[in-house]
Amino acid sequence: MSFLPYPGASDPSSYEELLAASDPDGLIERCIYRLVPPHGSTLLDIGAGSGYHALRYAQRAARVYALEPDPRMLAQLYRRLAALPTPNLSVLAAGAEDIPLRDASIDLAIARFAYFLGTPACLPGLAEVRRVLAPGSSLCVVDYDPSRGDIGALARAVYPALFGPDYRAEHDIFYRAQGFSAHPLDTVLRLPSRASAGRLLRLDFPHISAAQLAALPGLELSCCLLVYHLKKSIKTA
Ligand SMILES: C[S@@+](CC[C@H](N)C(=O)[O-])C[C@H]1O[C@@H](n2cnc3c(N)ncnc32)[C@H](O)[C@@H]1O
Repeated sequence: MSFLPYPGASDPSSYEELLAASDPDGLIERCIYRLVPPHGSTLLDIGAGSGYHALRYAQRAARVYALEPDPRMLAQLYRRLAALPTPNLSVLAAGAEDIPLRDASIDLAIARFAYFLGTPACLPGLAEVRRVLAPGSSLCVVDYDPSRGDIGALARAVYPALFGPDYRAEHDIFYRAQGFSAHPLDTVLRLPSRASAGRLLRLDFPHISAAQLAALPGLELSCCLLVYHLKKSIKTA
């Protein structure tokens, strides 16, 4: 099983602080639930990380599968479940390219900053997700919009070759060609302190410089996102 490692896998306490600081008002969940009501559904969290969000989804959905391939993330996920037993949540130690679920068994799949990076590299996983989605059910992919906001500016400054001027347009074209609609969403990253800012931001921007950290406009940073929504056709043929 191959996977893209995330720095939070080897620094659980910083990852936990970053999760609490990201979208503290829960706008991402609200946006997804407006597109697809979760109540009574069978939900798949793709690239679930430490399970922070999967346990929240389990408060609304009837059943949640947390799919995660990295053993270090799985260890964090199992620790969370040991502390907060959640009978309607099952862990799947696997990647998006090979999902151990039956065809048409999922009502809502969510990939939050995981696996789906808006390039053809994610097509094998997309085919797998289409297989497990029931007719009429949905996949929501949450991704950064590096063209806007404080976090977008930081992404462009730290990784100019990756987040060029055409990044957003190219990703929109990719997702639309696959049948997704795009929903812009403005959230915030509310950092707890100046002292922790570098440590937390380095999880997503390992190459951030001291000068880029010093230039941050404050502790509350605007973080502009895109929620891409794909609804599987109800035609089964
Ligand atoms: C940036 S983290 C996001 C985790 C979580 N969704 C969140 O919002 O906190 C990306 C996650 O995707 C996982 N991942 C990497 N490769 C994957 C793959 N091929 N299939 C599914 N998940 C993968 C990583 O192990 C990591 O847990």
